[in-house]
Amino acid sequence: MTTLQTLKNHALKAMENAYAPYSKFSVGAALIDENEHIHSGCNVENSAYPEGVCAEASAISAMILTGGRKIKQILLVSSGQHQVAPCGGCRQKIKEFADENTKIVIYHNDSITTYSIAELLPHSFDKSYLPQ
Ligand code: THU
Repeated sequence: MTTLQTLKNHALKAMENAYAPYSKFSVGAALIDENEHIHSGCNVENSAYPEGVCAEASAISAMILTGGRKIKQILLVSSGQHQVAPCGGCRQKIKEFADENTKIVIYHNDSITTYSIAELLPHSFDKSYLPQ
């Protein structure tokens, strides 16, 4: 099975467990890290709406927990009518652990679009702006 198929299966499985009773919009994310480990996540909403967590953030937390620090590829699926666009906050969260080779893949109904982080978040903030 290719990495893409594996990530797709993990993301779809994660999406099945999304907790999205308020938006009714389920999202699944699966990523492969520098150790070839796969981590997945789903959105977890809350009745206090801003306390909800996106699928990408869940998957990144799972990666960090097991020592991963680099996203080689991350794939997103959603229950919506179209390919989901990662939110601005998640673009910044992905950027923290991405490099120019990181692939951000959006899958929906057998159509696949792949982006780099520079395409999704041009002119972005990173640690190079912080004092040493
Ligand atoms: N959502 C994600 O999980 N990832 C994104 O990049 C876009 C939005 C979730 C958050 C919320 O639970 C629901 O989709 C509707 O905004």
